[in-house]
This record gives sequence, structure tokens and C-alpha cells, in this order.
Amino acid sequence: MASTGGGWRTKFWRQMFMWRRSCLRTSPWCILIAASEVAPATLSMMLRTTPTAKSAAEATQVLRSAWLQAISSHHQMYSGGQGVSSVLDIGCSIGDSTRELADWFPDAHVTGLDLSPYFLAVAQYMEKQRISSGLGRRRPISWVHANGECTGLPSSSFDVVSLAFVIHECPQHAIRGLLKEALRLLKPGGTVSLTDNSPKSKVLQNLPPAIFTLMKSTEPWMDEYFTFDLEGEMEKIGFMNVNSIMTNPRHRTVTGTAP
Ligand SMILES: C[S@@+](CC[C@H](N)C(=O)[O-])C[C@H]1O[C@@H](n2cnc3c(N)ncnc32)[C@H](O)[C@@H]1O
Repeated sequence: MASTGGGWRTKFWRQMFMWRRSCLRTSPWCILIAASEVAPATLSMMLRTTPTAKSAAEATQVLRSAWLQAISSHHQMYSGGQGVSSVLDIGCSIGDSTRELADWFPDAHVTGLDLSPYFLAVAQYMEKQRISSGLGRRRPISWVHANGECTGLPSSSFDVVSLAFVIHECPQHAIRGLLKEALRLLKPGGTVSLTDNSPKSKVLQNLPPAIFTLMKSTEPWMDEYFTFDLEGEMEKIGFMNVNSIMTNPRHRTVTGTAP
């Protein structure tokens, strides 16, 4: 995407409109309209988080690489030299985070899992588009439709379990369920990573009350999320080496090791 003055924003929205229209042409179910709007919504979140970025692509790169680096650093430090051959992305939505994980860990078998079959349909469509434009992968991504609290996947089968921007959408009992399932799914020495809004973020704390209220209208569990002691609960559930870092001014990445 070009970054010429204010023009790139117009081009961005035009491209998003064209992409959404082509998605809808090939996917006639009305419900996919909502799913097809996730991509522009995610990119606008990236731009808000990185206001100095000159394009949505640059904003995405800045935000995602800090998160991925946090996973790699934690895994290198605490896994006892275990490589990364299998990665699970719980709450993958339309697969943006899954594709980032697959690019970052090209030798790993990466699985995207979500509760929504519609998001998964868009995820598969986008991956097919990528492959048909010549950007195939050594290890194709697998997609699973399941609840992240009880996935039905085998125990001790993943080196990394990631939840990116999932738990702010969940009540506290569901966050506990997701953490317990992540612990079951990880191999000993494996790494869990949760990246999401940080309750300590000054940017979020200083949001005008009207904007915060507006945000809560689409994120009904935000108060439960902000009052949840994530690091403490992870330790209670059995994770070791729980670390939390601000990966940008709005978001933290919390990592832990399975015993
Ligand atoms: C904001 S999206 C995540 C975006 C994506 N991970 C990314 O970083 O681009 C949150 C996703 O979590 C999914 N989700 C919420 N609770 C879930 C659960 N219990 N099991 C699986 N997916 C869940 C929702 O369906 C939604 O697609």
C-alpha cells in the first residue's frame, strides 16, 4: 500500500471495499458479511495502536513482531532447548494471527481454532487466495472449529499455544477455562502466550469516557477482563515463569511455561 500523504487512507478503504465485495461474491451466505468486516476492523485497530505508522501494513508489522518476539524469547529462555514444531492459535478469527504465527515459525505445523465457523470460512478463503497468488507454505495451516475451553485435541501436543486478542471478549470463568485447556494441550516446557489490552496502559486509562463506553458496547466483558488477575490466575492454574511485558503502549503479552 502506498504511503503518499493522506492518499493511502483512501486507497486502503477502497481496497478493503473491493476485498469485501469479492469475498461476498464467492460466499453467498449473509452471515459472512459480518465476518468479512473483521479484516478492516483489525487493520484500523493496528493503526490506532501505532499512530506513527505510515500504512496499515507497517502498523501491523510493528504490533505483530513485538508479540511474536515475546513468544520466541520466552520459549528460548524456558523450554530447555525444545524447538517449535506445533503451534495452536486459539480464537484465530479470520486467521490473521494464525498466518503471522505460520510466517514466524515456518517449520511448525500451525493450527487456527475458533468458535465461529464463519470466521473460519473467511480464514480458509484468505489462505487459499494467498496460495493461489504463489505464496504457498511448506506446512499448510489446519483449521479447527471448536470451543477453546474444550478443544478435543490431544493432550501435550503443542509447543506453543497462543491467544491473541481473545480474552478481553470473555467472562472470567471462560478465561480460566481457556487457560486450563492451554495447559493441558502444551507439551512440558511449552509456552502459552496471551496478548491483549493492558489494564496498565496509560493510553487506555486516558481514553475519553464516551469512547470507553462506546468500546464497552461491543465488548461486554471488558470490566471482567480488566479486573482479572491474569498473571496470578496463570500461576494458580499451574503455569511457571509467568512474565508480562508491554509490547506496545496499549497491549501486554503475558507468557508462561507448562511444567
Ligand atoms: C478479536 S478476535 C481474535 C483475533 C485474532 N486472534 C487476531 O489476533 O487477529 C477474538 C476471537 O476469539 C474467538 N473466541 C472467543 N471465545 C472463544 C472460545 N472459547 N473458543 C474459541 N474461540 C473463541 C471469537 O470467535 C473471535 O473470533
